[in-house]
Amino acid sequence: MKILQLGLIVALTTGLSALTIYITGVSNSAGGFRVSSDDLSALSSLQSDFKKCVKANGLGLQAISGRDYCQVTIQFPSDTKPKWRDPKSGELEGLSFDFNLCEAVATWGQVRNSTTILTKEFIDALPNGWEDYAWRRINKGVQLNRCENKTLCMEKLSLVLPEMPPFIPRQFGRCAVIGNSGDLLKTKFGKEIDGYDAVVRENGAPIQNYTEYVGRKSTFRLLNRGSAKALDKVAELDETGQEVLIVKTTIHDIMNKMIREVPIRNPVYLMLGASFGSAAKGTGLKALEFALSLCDSVDMYGFTVDPGYKEWTRYFSESRQGHTPLHGRAYYQMMECLGLIKIHSPMRADFIRVVESLPSQSTIDAARSASEKLLRRVGGGKTDPWRACSIIKKREKEKTSNIAGARDAAVDHQNIFTKKFLPSSSHLRSLR
Ligand SMILES: *[C@@H]1O[C@H](CO)[C@@H](O)[C@H](O)[C@H]1NC(C)=O
Ligand SMILES: *[C@@H]1O[C@H](CO)[C@@H](O)[C@H](O)[C@H]1NC(C)=O
Ligand SMILES: *[C@@H]1O[C@H](CO)[C@@H](O)[C@H](O)[C@H]1NC(C)=O
Repeated sequence: MKILQLGLIVALTTGLSALTIYITGVSNSAGGFRVSSDDLSALSSLQSDFKKCVKANGLGLQAISGRDYCQVTIQFPSDTKPKWRDPKSGELEGLSFDFNLCEAVATWGQVRNSTTILTKEFIDALPNGWEDYAWRRINKGVQLNRCENKTLCMEKLSLVLPEMPPFIPRQFGRCAVIGNSGDLLKTKFGKEIDGYDAVVRENGAPIQNYTEYVGRKSTFRLLNRGSAKALDKVAELDETGQEVLIVKTTIHDIMNKMIREVPIRNPVYLMLGASFGSAAKGTGLKALEFALSLCDSVDMYGFTVDPGYKEWTRYFSESRQGHTPLHGRAYYQMMECLGLIKIHSPMRADFIRVVESLPSQSTIDAARSASEKLLRRVGGGKTDPWRACSIIKKREKEKTSNIAGARDAAVDHQNIFTKKFLPSSSHLRSLR
């Protein structure tokens, strides 16, 4: 029965594959996309281990199989009282959320091997990168008529557009992503947080006066549009001037002016991220994505994930209207049970807590390979992981980015990458 239903999904995705082939320039003539019975059992194992993991770590959450091996529904206990209302429809948030594990393992797998900073090299390598893409990253970019004056576009982007990726996958070991939830004031996580190799913060989150709870260290700061427009204020939050500021939206003339005139000493870049649909638009998830593209492991603090939340609060200001807290919590639980992150919160404050019943790495890898085939992703299911490289990772042989100061693991990774796994230029041309 399950297999039959999965067959239906395959049939449905086939319809999309023509489009995918057009976009990726990859044909499936090698037949490498056939989903085998091993693949199906890999997906089935992941789903069943995943359900056990949610039960063991979800503080009351429960995962239920959906209509095939990819689909799961994460449910809150029926006595949970949702508090958040959709401002448009006025409806209360629901208590159950559907997730596609295949989509999640495939996409997050790619994130982990991609650089997530927008570079000039990336725009140059895209088919019609300047005409079709660059203006989207400039505030009021529509008025630039698809960058018909490329000099002008370059000028606007130049302060935030490095030639080559400034950071590479797995450059850092253990990383912590710190959300802004008021829950942070319930536990003194400061020392623990300062023990990480890199710490990612968000928007206007202050450090001063809160170090007991949120630590001092700050390596990166992810900024939404509002915070980015107050770049001078944000830069003041970090006394070292070393914190790297990552803007997830567009570059604004106001920002360029501030970088030049204030001046802002911190490096400022634009993020180049994947899209995860509606579940995953907030700065919090972007910060996790950023960390996952850079670190061996990612731990999460301050995201209001415990049962019985009352309202959305911030540790440094009055509470404010957040968005979809239950959906977010379910999504983070999914990420934890796919081995992507570890959640720390007042109810999970034991630093050495092990994520129980976590699906094994081999189960996750097998399921990812199967999912890539199923979703007909580039290089789907090939054992050579770099076949799944996206254009994001294009890097020319003779150029090496500056990785001085990177950990040995990062340097090795970089060397292997540059020597062996470059998508050939003909591959890039075929993208046109
Ligand atoms: C990412 O790269 C590592 C090697 O550094 C590899 O083991 C892993 O399978 C890759 N993941 C994906 C999704 O390509
Ligand atoms: C293109 O933009 C540059 C920089 O602002 C400007 O100096 C130049 O005159 C513009 N060229 C045209 C043809 O408008
Ligand atoms: C920290 O507290 C002092 C004294 O109350 C105050 O002047 C300062 O603005 C505070 N800093 C932040 C970042 O809130």
